[in-house]
Amino acid sequence: MINKCLFPVAGYGTRFLPATKAMAKEMLPIVQKPLVQYGVEEAVEAGLTDIAFVTGRGKRAIEDHFDRSYELEHQIAGTGKEAALSGIRSLIDQCTFSYTRQRHMAGLGNAILTGKTLIGDEAFGVVLADDLCFGHHKGVLQQMVTLYRQFRCSIVAIEEVPEDETHKYGVIAGDSMGDRIYRVNNMVEKPAPGDAPSNLAIIGRYILTPDIFEILENTPPGKNGEVQITDALLEQARTGCVIAYKFDGRRFDCGSVDGFVAATNYCYQNCYLPNAG
Ligand code: UTP
Repeated sequence: MINKCLFPVAGYGTRFLPATKAMAKEMLPIVQKPLVQYGVEEAVEAGLTDIAFVTGRGKRAIEDHFDRSYELEHQIAGTGKEAALSGIRSLIDQCTFSYTRQRHMAGLGNAILTGKTLIGDEAFGVVLADDLCFGHHKGVLQQMVTLYRQFRCSIVAIEEVPEDETHKYGVIAGDSMGDRIYRVNNMVEKPAPGDAPSNLAIIGRYILTPDIFEILENTPPGKNGEVQITDALLEQARTGCVIAYKFDGRRFDCGSVDGFVAATNYCYQNCYLPNAG
């Protein structure tokens, strides 16, 4: 069973400056809900209710969001506005939330390693909340948890991207193991044009087995001088097994302005319900 989900939210979100100067990128709303709430809802749908955040300076609004707000709640008690908080209240009731801080923005791999203290020695999910995912029938993380039961190894979610966009992602190569599933045999972080081993890009959903921490401890800084989770996963693939899973659903890169606007339009048309918390 997987119970824990790690949310690395320590990044600076520079593509959204000045909005992110004093506010966490993960608190930007898609219509009426912050990005991070969509991510936690996806984790809970997959049965992952121990929510662990790797935060940084300027991210306290995330902690406040996943806590009661007595003054506000008292103010709107008994009015029609109360329903707007029902979704977040339900998450607060179902989940435990824990926090640790990444000292330096030393890369996603370093952020995940920082979360070791909150995860311990068990398999766990990772959600990058700026990748907003909508599964067709089940949430993307839930699809991955089902796959984990079968393979018992680390799993990365992938999607096909145009060749001129592979340089933005970690890109895998692998042997097809049937519908949507590959056994990874190569991974390159943000490949230069022409160096991408495929057009299968890793997106912000992972299930990781706990041996990843020891591998990360021994992973030197890679691309851009940052500790890359892709480098650690490649090591894990070489010595064991890593599965790449072409998820069934849609993803929006809400870390970019274009993706954020597309997600907003999509949600406004497909998910927006007045008072949906
Ligand atoms: P990104 O590179 O997309 O996020 O990292 P960023 O750095 O915040 O964004 P820009 O490029 O400056 O606009 C992917 C995810 O990894 C987390 C980020 O918070 C984001 O969710 N991250 C990245 C960390 O927590 N720590 C890091 O050192 C790096």
